[in-house]
Amino acid sequence: MGFLTENLHASHVRSHFQCGNTVLDQYLKLQASQYVKKRLAACFVCTDVVLTNKVIGFYTLSNSSISREFLPIEWQNKYPKSYHTIPATLLGRLAVDASFHGKGMGEKLLIEALYRSFLASREIGSIAVVVDPIDVNAEKFYHRYGFQKIPDSGKLFLAMNTMKQLFG
Ligand SMILES: CC(C)(COP(=O)(O)OP(=O)(O)OC[C@H]1O[C@@H](n2cnc3c(N)ncnc32)[C@H](O)[C@@H]1OP(=O)(O)O)[C@@H](O)C(=O)NCCC(=O)NCCS
Repeated sequence: MGFLTENLHASHVRSHFQCGNTVLDQYLKLQASQYVKKRLAACFVCTDVVLTNKVIGFYTLSNSSISREFLPIEWQNKYPKSYHTIPATLLGRLAVDASFHGKGMGEKLLIEALYRSFLASREIGSIAVVVDPIDVNAEKFYHRYGFQKIPDSGKLFLAMNTMKQLFG
């Protein structure tokens, strides 16, 4: 089966989408297009190119920042004190339709989102990808890929310089 990831557009079929979390399902169906139009987020969807335009999974990316005082102390010391907020990239949402769970699609989309963010950080500064896991399971998923906690925020981050070892 061939998969294609591209920017969300009007002809992508979303009505069937169920990832196990209704907030994320509703986001894709009702909010994502509006947020894209308002440039709050870029939304990438993965479809099966051969059969239909049905969305199998999606993720969103936005510019973001981390308050310096929330970074772990060893990270704070890496950056000039004049930076009260440190530029970062937000992986706001990531979800896969339940019919594809456990087949590697979540990992594929996560790596793709990280690679896209890594490349973008060469053009617009960003020290890390930040995620805000929707529940404990999502947090466990991100931990598998090396994300670390941002203390007192519920968020996790993965440094671009760590990804450098992966993506060069
Ligand atoms: C989390 C989610 C994206 C994973 O997608 P998936 O396609 O089932 O994941 P994959 O098949 O690519 O799994 C990749 C690895 O992560 C593990 N994994 C998957 N879901 C996990 C979870 N919730 N907790 C911990 N590990 C998980 C898998 O076991 C696999 O590891 P393995 O290769 O050692 O077996 C999917 O379950 C989902 O859409 N959940 C609802 C929405 C959500 O929680 N999104 C997270 C961000 S807000």
